[in-house]
Amino acid sequence: MNFEFMIRFSDDKMAKVQEIIARYPEGKQKSALLPLLHLAQETFGGWLDVPVMDYVAELLQIDPIEVYEVATFYSMYNLKPVGKYMFEVCHTGPCMISGADNIVAYITEKLGIKPGETTADGLFTLKTAECLGACGYAPMMQLGKHYREHLTKEKVDAIIDECRRNAAANN
Ligand code: FES
Repeated sequence: MNFEFMIRFSDDKMAKVQEIIARYPEGKQKSALLPLLHLAQETFGGWLDVPVMDYVAELLQIDPIEVYEVATFYSMYNLKPVGKYMFEVCHTGPCMISGADNIVAYITEKLGIKPGETTADGLFTLKTAECLGACGYAPMMQLGKHYREHLTKEKVDAIIDECRRNAAANN
């Protein structure tokens, strides 16, 4: 199967691509790179495989290397497959002194994965992140589009249960 052939946005998504590119002045379409990478990641399985990045380069008429440079720089882009639920635990100063390390260790113990790893069932990925701008709610993590704050072991247990319930309900 030619996987690259399948990497195409739907008509709806292409309309969104055009709308994003049109936000920037003519000839400055490269400025649309970050939002297009977000759209591509969300559309093509939660991560940016090389053919996906090449496709984005083609859409923006820029060199693939320009896309690789950006995608490898920012931690919000995933360069390998990730689980359905990604725990991005902040491990910058204020979160660290509030126990972020213990939270990471607890998730590792509970799910059997270290930062950068995904559970065998494909449900959970654990990552550490730099300051997510919610230092007053430390320790915290990002889960999808939401923040989970003032984390404790009990809260982590509840979050994992909630994810498992959601996954089961959506199967
Ligand atoms: Fe964790 Fe800022 S240090 S949100």
